[in-house]
Amino acid sequence: MSTPASTTPKLHASKHVAYIQSLDIHKDSLDYWLTEHLRLSGVYWGLTALHLLHHPTALPRAETISFVQSCLHPSGGFGASPGHDAHLLYTVSAIQILATVDALDTIPIATTASWIASLQQPSGVFFGDQWGETDTRFLYGALNALSLLGRLDAINVDAAVDYVLRCRNHDGGFGMSPGAESHAGLIFTCVGALAIAGRLDDLDADLLGDWLCERQLPNGGLNGRPEKLEDVCYGWWVLSSLAVIGRLHWIDRDRLVAFILKCQDEEGGGFADRPGNMVDVFHTHFGIAGLSLLGYEGLDEIDPVYCMPRTVTKRVLGK
Ligand code: FPP
Ligand code: ZN
Repeated sequence: MSTPASTTPKLHASKHVAYIQSLDIHKDSLDYWLTEHLRLSGVYWGLTALHLLHHPTALPRAETISFVQSCLHPSGGFGASPGHDAHLLYTVSAIQILATVDALDTIPIATTASWIASLQQPSGVFFGDQWGETDTRFLYGALNALSLLGRLDAINVDAAVDYVLRCRNHDGGFGMSPGAESHAGLIFTCVGALAIAGRLDDLDADLLGDWLCERQLPNGGLNGRPEKLEDVCYGWWVLSSLAVIGRLHWIDRDRLVAFILKCQDEEGGGFADRPGNMVDVFHTHFGIAGLSLLGYEGLDEIDPVYCMPRTVTKRVLGK
């Protein structure tokens, strides 16, 4: 049953724009320094949300580019903030930001592509950095970033696909490594990697779609695994996977829209993981991205594979 329209709040778009802009201004706040280890991803989340809200220039372009460049290491990898170690996840964010502001030519593409490629292991999976942790987040990140750079030829894509397929479980879902429990966040990474590799035919889309739809709880929100609480960010991990396999319409759209909108801070802007909690830029991005996938009025379209504005992936990838 859908929530009556009268009890569903509207999207407070201008509050969200102001909230995201304020994150960059409050450099003396405790929150700013507590999130230093995530900064480059924070810029990606904020910038993408601003594009979806039709405010693509709300963060100054030149400052954004120079901040990204200040996180670059001679190896070609990027850290979360200046002086932080290079890591694949922040390198993906750097490339997504530069693709979004049409400035990929401001970095040494060949060096960055080689650094990413150097993290691939014989099994096809990727290390996140020199310390050797592996999981499908890094594999997806490598395919996402290298395809935006036009350098997928730098890696063994077939080996990466074989690794992803080894992470598939009998329930149709995927885990972080072969034999690991199905988890919606990691399903997003595996489905995204297969989409980029052009190998979605290797999926059992009906079985996976059933597992993903079972994530919707009576309050409309989605969880990431059985027995877990709902969370706005899982709205994204689950929905984007459903969108990529052509089964977005299997979810109860109106109840999910209502749940996401209840997670807004209607006065200060931003979204929390669930109603009444503190907002943050991560859940703000995924709340708006989820609403965009659901076709909520007034939002720009998002690409479910890259989690970037569709206008950007069309421009960069030509499709
Ligand atoms: C849940 O994490 C989410 C994941 C495991 C997927 C994360 C995917 C990436 C980092 C790849 C890059 C993503 C984009 C959008 C380009 P969690 O720590 O909330 O998991 P938990 O709920 O089990 O604690
Ligand atoms: Zn969350």
